[in-house]
Amino acid sequence: MALALVGFVILRAMVVPRSFGQYGHYRGAAVAEAAARPIAYAGHEVCEGCHVDIVDQKKLGKHVVLHCETCHGPLANHADDPTSVKPSKPDVAVLCTSCHEANAAKPKGFPQVITADHAGGIVCDTCHQPHHPKIETEVKK
Ligand code: HEC
Ligand code: HEC
Ligand code: HEC
Ligand code: HEC
Repeated sequence: MALALVGFVILRAMVVPRSFGQYGHYRGAAVAEAAARPIAYAGHEVCEGCHVDIVDQKKLGKHVVLHCETCHGPLANHADDPTSVKPSKPDVAVLCTSCHEANAAKPKGFPQVITADHAGGIVCDTCHQPHHPKIETEVKK
Protein backbone atom coordinates (compact mmCIF):
# COMPACT_ATOMS: atom_id res chain seq x y z
CA MET A 1 0.00 0.00 0.00
CA ALA A 2 2.72 2.45 1.06
CA LEU A 3 4.75 1.34 -1.93
CA ALA A 4 1.83 2.04 -4.25
CA LEU A 5 1.48 5.50 -2.75
CA VAL A 6 5.17 6.28 -3.22
CA GLY A 7 4.92 4.91 -6.75
CA PHE A 8 1.96 7.19 -7.44
CA VAL A 9 3.72 10.27 -6.10
CA ILE A 10 6.83 9.59 -8.20
CA LEU A 11 4.81 8.85 -11.30
CA ARG A 12 2.71 11.96 -10.80
CA ALA A 13 5.82 14.13 -10.47
CA MET A 14 7.07 12.62 -13.73
CA VAL A 15 3.97 13.13 -15.86
CA VAL A 16 2.35 16.28 -14.49
CA PRO A 17 3.98 19.40 -16.00
CA ARG A 18 5.75 21.68 -13.57
CA SER A 19 3.47 24.68 -14.07
CA PHE A 20 0.24 22.69 -13.74
CA GLY A 21 -2.11 24.38 -11.28
CA GLN A 22 -0.15 27.67 -11.27
CA TYR A 23 -3.32 29.62 -12.10
CA GLY A 24 -6.03 26.99 -12.30
CA HIS A 25 -6.65 23.48 -13.48
CA TYR A 26 -4.29 23.75 -16.47
CA ARG A 27 -0.63 24.16 -17.30
CA GLY A 28 0.35 27.73 -16.34
CA ALA A 29 3.12 27.90 -18.94
CA ALA A 30 0.53 27.32 -21.68
CA VAL A 31 -0.60 30.95 -21.36
CA ALA A 32 2.80 32.35 -22.34
CA GLU A 33 3.19 29.74 -25.10
CA ALA A 34 -0.17 30.65 -26.64
CA ALA A 35 0.58 34.36 -26.38
CA ALA A 36 3.88 33.89 -28.21
CA ARG A 37 2.24 32.37 -31.30
CA PRO A 38 1.89 34.72 -34.28
CA ILE A 39 -1.48 36.42 -34.66
CA ALA A 40 -3.43 35.16 -37.69
CA TYR A 41 -6.80 36.86 -37.32
CA ALA A 42 -7.11 40.65 -37.17
CA GLY A 43 -10.72 40.71 -35.95
CA HIS A 44 -13.62 42.34 -37.77
CA GLU A 45 -13.27 45.73 -36.03
CA VAL A 46 -9.88 46.16 -37.65
CA CYS A 47 -11.16 45.33 -41.16
CA GLU A 48 -14.17 47.58 -40.69
CA GLY A 49 -11.94 50.54 -39.85
CA CYS A 50 -10.62 50.60 -43.43
CA HIS A 51 -13.37 48.92 -45.49
CA VAL A 52 -16.24 51.22 -44.58
CA ASP A 53 -17.97 50.64 -47.94
CA ILE A 54 -18.23 46.90 -47.28
CA VAL A 55 -19.65 47.56 -43.80
CA ASP A 56 -22.38 49.74 -45.33
CA GLN A 57 -23.18 47.05 -47.88
CA LYS A 58 -23.17 44.22 -45.35
CA LYS A 59 -25.39 45.86 -42.75
CA LEU A 60 -28.33 45.87 -45.16
CA GLY A 61 -28.46 42.09 -45.46
CA LYS A 62 -28.54 38.92 -43.39
CA HIS A 63 -24.82 38.34 -43.74
CA VAL A 64 -24.43 41.16 -41.22
CA VAL A 65 -24.06 38.34 -38.67
CA LEU A 66 -20.93 37.00 -40.38
CA HIS A 67 -17.58 38.56 -39.69
CA CYS A 68 -15.09 39.30 -42.46
CA GLU A 69 -12.57 36.58 -41.71
CA THR A 70 -15.25 33.89 -41.58
CA CYS A 71 -15.26 34.10 -45.37
CA HIS A 72 -11.94 35.73 -46.17
CA GLY A 73 -9.88 33.64 -43.77
CA PRO A 74 -7.22 34.94 -41.40
CA LEU A 75 -5.88 38.27 -42.70
CA ALA A 76 -3.88 39.86 -39.90
CA ASN A 77 -0.90 40.10 -42.27
CA HIS A 78 -2.99 42.07 -44.78
CA ALA A 79 -4.43 44.34 -42.06
CA ASP A 80 -0.90 45.17 -40.88
CA ASP A 81 0.31 45.99 -44.39
CA PRO A 82 -2.56 46.28 -46.89
CA THR A 83 -0.54 47.48 -49.87
CA SER A 84 2.02 44.67 -49.92
CA VAL A 85 -0.19 41.80 -48.73
CA LYS A 86 -3.13 41.44 -51.07
CA PRO A 87 -5.78 38.93 -49.93
CA SER A 88 -6.58 36.05 -52.24
CA LYS A 89 -10.20 35.85 -53.33
CA PRO A 90 -12.46 33.40 -51.51
CA ASP A 91 -13.36 30.34 -53.58
CA VAL A 92 -17.06 31.11 -53.92
CA ALA A 93 -17.98 27.66 -55.25
CA VAL A 94 -16.77 26.04 -52.03
CA LEU A 95 -17.51 28.88 -49.62
CA CYS A 96 -21.26 29.37 -50.12
CA THR A 97 -22.21 25.71 -50.24
CA SER A 98 -20.20 25.02 -47.08
CA CYS A 99 -22.96 26.83 -45.20
CA HIS A 100 -25.98 26.69 -47.55
CA GLU A 101 -26.00 23.21 -49.06
CA ALA A 102 -29.34 21.66 -48.08
CA ASN A 103 -29.07 19.15 -45.27
CA ALA A 104 -31.87 17.68 -43.17
CA ALA A 105 -29.77 18.21 -40.04
CA LYS A 106 -29.83 21.99 -40.47
CA PRO A 107 -32.52 24.07 -38.75
CA LYS A 108 -35.61 24.44 -40.97
CA GLY A 109 -35.45 28.23 -40.92
CA PHE A 110 -31.88 28.37 -42.18
CA PRO A 111 -31.76 29.34 -45.88
CA GLN A 112 -30.49 26.31 -47.79
CA VAL A 113 -30.51 25.14 -51.39
CA ILE A 114 -29.71 22.03 -53.37
CA THR A 115 -26.86 23.52 -55.35
CA ALA A 116 -27.27 21.35 -58.44
CA ASP A 117 -30.96 22.30 -58.83
CA HIS A 118 -30.65 25.86 -57.61
CA ALA A 119 -27.57 27.16 -59.39
CA GLY A 120 -27.28 24.76 -62.33
CA GLY A 121 -23.53 25.08 -62.44
CA ILE A 122 -23.51 28.88 -62.32
CA VAL A 123 -21.22 30.39 -59.67
CA CYS A 124 -23.21 31.78 -56.72
CA ASP A 125 -21.90 35.34 -56.93
CA THR A 126 -23.09 35.71 -60.51
CA CYS A 127 -26.49 36.34 -58.94
CA HIS A 128 -25.82 36.94 -55.24
CA GLN A 129 -23.60 39.74 -53.92
CA PRO A 130 -21.62 37.98 -51.14
CA HIS A 131 -21.86 40.88 -48.69
CA HIS A 132 -25.57 41.39 -49.30
CA PRO A 133 -26.88 38.11 -50.70
CA LYS A 134 -30.61 38.81 -50.97
CA ILE A 135 -31.70 39.33 -54.54
CA GLU A 136 -34.24 42.16 -54.54
CA THR A 137 -36.91 41.06 -56.97
CA GLU A 138 -39.29 43.86 -56.15
CA VAL A 139 -38.97 47.25 -54.54
CA LYS A 140 -39.73 47.13 -50.82
CA LYS A 141 -42.76 49.14 -49.74
C1 HEC B 1 -5.22 49.69 -42.86
C2 HEC B 1 -6.36 49.55 -43.76
C3 HEC B 1 -6.84 48.14 -44.04
C4 HEC B 1 -7.18 47.16 -43.14
C5 HEC B 1 -7.04 47.19 -41.64
C6 HEC B 1 -7.71 46.06 -43.92
N1 HEC B 1 -7.67 46.35 -45.26
FE1 HEC B 1 -8.28 45.17 -46.76
N2 HEC B 1 -7.53 46.46 -48.14
C7 HEC B 1 -7.01 47.71 -47.83
C8 HEC B 1 -6.52 48.33 -49.06
C9 HEC B 1 -5.87 49.69 -49.17
C10 HEC B 1 -6.78 47.39 -50.11
C11 HEC B 1 -6.46 47.53 -51.58
C12 HEC B 1 -5.10 46.93 -51.82
C13 HEC B 1 -4.71 46.99 -53.28
O1 HEC B 1 -5.59 46.89 -54.14
O2 HEC B 1 -3.51 47.10 -53.53
C14 HEC B 1 -7.42 46.24 -49.48
C15 HEC B 1 -7.85 45.12 -50.17
C16 HEC B 1 -8.62 44.10 -49.61
C17 HEC B 1 -9.21 43.00 -50.34
C18 HEC B 1 -9.01 42.66 -51.78
C19 HEC B 1 -9.75 43.53 -52.73
C20 HEC B 1 -9.49 43.09 -54.14
O3 HEC B 1 -9.70 43.92 -54.99
O4 HEC B 1 -9.07 41.94 -54.38
C21 HEC B 1 -9.91 42.24 -49.42
C22 HEC B 1 -10.71 40.98 -49.70
C23 HEC B 1 -9.73 42.86 -48.13
N3 HEC B 1 -8.95 43.97 -48.28
C24 HEC B 1 -10.25 42.37 -46.96
C25 HEC B 1 -9.86 42.79 -45.70
C26 HEC B 1 -10.18 42.11 -44.47
C27 HEC B 1 -11.05 40.86 -44.36
C28 HEC B 1 -9.60 42.80 -43.45
C29 HEC B 1 -9.57 42.47 -41.97
C30 HEC B 1 -8.90 41.23 -41.62
C31 HEC B 1 -8.91 43.94 -44.05
N4 HEC B 1 -9.08 43.88 -45.41
C32 HEC B 1 -8.19 44.89 -43.35
C33 HEC B 1 -6.93 48.28 -46.58
C34 HEC B 1 -7.14 47.62 -45.38
C1 HEC C 1 -20.30 35.64 -46.76
C2 HEC C 1 -18.87 35.72 -46.93
C3 HEC C 1 -18.20 37.07 -46.82
C4 HEC C 1 -18.17 37.93 -45.74
C5 HEC C 1 -18.85 37.75 -44.40
C6 HEC C 1 -17.36 39.05 -46.14
N1 HEC C 1 -16.92 38.88 -47.43
FE1 HEC C 1 -15.82 40.18 -48.51
N2 HEC C 1 -16.04 39.05 -50.17
C7 HEC C 1 -16.61 37.79 -50.19
C8 HEC C 1 -16.55 37.26 -51.54
C9 HEC C 1 -17.05 35.91 -51.98
C10 HEC C 1 -15.97 38.29 -52.34
C11 HEC C 1 -15.79 38.29 -53.85
C12 HEC C 1 -14.52 37.70 -54.31
C13 HEC C 1 -14.49 37.69 -55.82
O1 HEC C 1 -14.63 38.74 -56.43
O2 HEC C 1 -14.35 36.61 -56.36
C14 HEC C 1 -15.64 39.38 -51.45
C15 HEC C 1 -15.01 40.55 -51.85
C16 HEC C 1 -14.49 41.49 -50.96
C17 HEC C 1 -13.68 42.63 -51.33
C18 HEC C 1 -13.27 43.01 -52.74
C19 HEC C 1 -14.07 44.20 -53.24
C20 HEC C 1 -15.53 43.92 -53.44
O3 HEC C 1 -16.35 44.76 -53.06
O4 HEC C 1 -15.88 42.89 -54.03
C21 HEC C 1 -13.37 43.29 -50.16
C22 HEC C 1 -12.54 44.56 -50.03
C23 HEC C 1 -13.99 42.57 -49.07
N3 HEC C 1 -14.67 41.48 -49.59
C24 HEC C 1 -13.90 42.90 -47.74
C25 HEC C 1 -14.70 42.37 -46.74
C26 HEC C 1 -14.79 42.90 -45.39
C27 HEC C 1 -13.99 44.08 -44.87
C28 HEC C 1 -15.70 42.16 -44.71
C29 HEC C 1 -16.22 42.35 -43.29
C30 HEC C 1 -16.79 43.67 -43.01
C31 HEC C 1 -16.16 41.12 -45.64
N4 HEC C 1 -15.53 41.30 -46.84
C32 HEC C 1 -17.07 40.12 -45.32
C33 HEC C 1 -17.16 37.13 -49.13
C34 HEC C 1 -17.40 37.68 -47.88
C1 HEC D 1 -20.31 30.88 -42.52
C2 HEC D 1 -21.59 30.53 -43.10
C3 HEC D 1 -22.05 31.26 -44.35
C4 HEC D 1 -21.38 31.41 -45.54
C5 HEC D 1 -19.96 30.99 -45.87
C6 HEC D 1 -22.31 32.02 -46.45
N1 HEC D 1 -23.49 32.27 -45.80
FE1 HEC D 1 -25.18 32.99 -46.64
N2 HEC D 1 -26.07 33.07 -44.82
C7 HEC D 1 -25.50 32.65 -43.65
C8 HEC D 1 -26.35 33.04 -42.54
C9 HEC D 1 -26.07 32.78 -41.08
C10 HEC D 1 -27.47 33.68 -43.11
C11 HEC D 1 -28.64 34.29 -42.36
C12 HEC D 1 -29.61 33.21 -41.99
C13 HEC D 1 -30.79 33.76 -41.25
O1 HEC D 1 -30.84 34.96 -40.92
O2 HEC D 1 -31.70 32.97 -41.00
C14 HEC D 1 -27.28 33.65 -44.55
C15 HEC D 1 -28.20 34.13 -45.47
C16 HEC D 1 -28.06 33.99 -46.85
C17 HEC D 1 -29.10 34.24 -47.83
C18 HEC D 1 -30.52 34.69 -47.53
C19 HEC D 1 -30.57 36.19 -47.61
C20 HEC D 1 -31.91 36.77 -47.23
O3 HEC D 1 -31.92 37.99 -46.96
O4 HEC D 1 -32.90 36.04 -47.17
C21 HEC D 1 -28.55 34.01 -49.08
C22 HEC D 1 -29.23 34.17 -50.42
C23 HEC D 1 -27.17 33.62 -48.86
N3 HEC D 1 -26.92 33.62 -47.50
C24 HEC D 1 -26.28 33.34 -49.88
C25 HEC D 1 -24.92 33.10 -49.69
C26 HEC D 1 -23.92 33.09 -50.73
C27 HEC D 1 -24.21 33.31 -52.20
C28 HEC D 1 -22.73 32.82 -50.13
C29 HEC D 1 -21.36 32.77 -50.76
C30 HEC D 1 -20.88 34.01 -51.35
C31 HEC D 1 -22.98 32.64 -48.71
N4 HEC D 1 -24.31 32.86 -48.48
C32 HEC D 1 -22.01 32.31 -47.77
C33 HEC D 1 -24.33 31.96 -43.53
C34 HEC D 1 -23.36 31.84 -44.51
C1 HEC E 1 -29.01 32.28 -61.66
C2 HEC E 1 -29.03 33.06 -60.46
C3 HEC E 1 -28.67 32.34 -59.15
C4 HEC E 1 -27.53 31.60 -58.89
C5 HEC E 1 -26.39 31.24 -59.82
C6 HEC E 1 -27.61 31.25 -57.49
N1 HEC E 1 -28.76 31.74 -56.93
FE1 HEC E 1 -29.34 31.53 -55.00
N2 HEC E 1 -31.09 32.48 -55.40
C7 HEC E 1 -31.43 33.07 -56.61
C8 HEC E 1 -32.74 33.69 -56.48
C9 HEC E 1 -33.47 34.47 -57.57
C10 HEC E 1 -33.19 33.45 -55.14
C11 HEC E 1 -34.49 33.91 -54.49
C12 HEC E 1 -34.37 35.36 -54.05
C13 HEC E 1 -33.57 35.50 -52.80
O1 HEC E 1 -33.93 34.91 -51.79
O2 HEC E 1 -32.55 36.21 -52.82
C14 HEC E 1 -32.13 32.70 -54.50
C15 HEC E 1 -32.16 32.29 -53.19
C16 HEC E 1 -31.10 31.67 -52.51
C17 HEC E 1 -31.08 31.33 -51.10
C18 HEC E 1 -32.19 31.58 -50.12
C19 HEC E 1 -33.08 30.38 -50.07
C20 HEC E 1 -34.15 30.52 -49.01
O3 HEC E 1 -34.78 29.51 -48.72
O4 HEC E 1 -34.34 31.63 -48.47
C21 HEC E 1 -29.88 30.76 -50.82
C22 HEC E 1 -29.39 30.23 -49.50
C23 HEC E 1 -29.13 30.74 -52.06
N3 HEC E 1 -29.89 31.30 -53.06
C24 HEC E 1 -27.85 30.24 -52.17
C25 HEC E 1 -27.17 30.11 -53.37
C26 HEC E 1 -25.90 29.43 -53.49
C27 HEC E 1 -25.14 28.77 -52.36
C28 HEC E 1 -25.55 29.50 -54.81
C29 HEC E 1 -24.32 28.90 -55.47
C30 HEC E 1 -24.18 27.46 -55.31
C31 HEC E 1 -26.61 30.23 -55.50
N4 HEC E 1 -27.56 30.57 -54.60
C32 HEC E 1 -26.62 30.51 -56.84
C33 HEC E 1 -30.65 33.06 -57.75
C34 HEC E 1 -29.43 32.42 -57.91
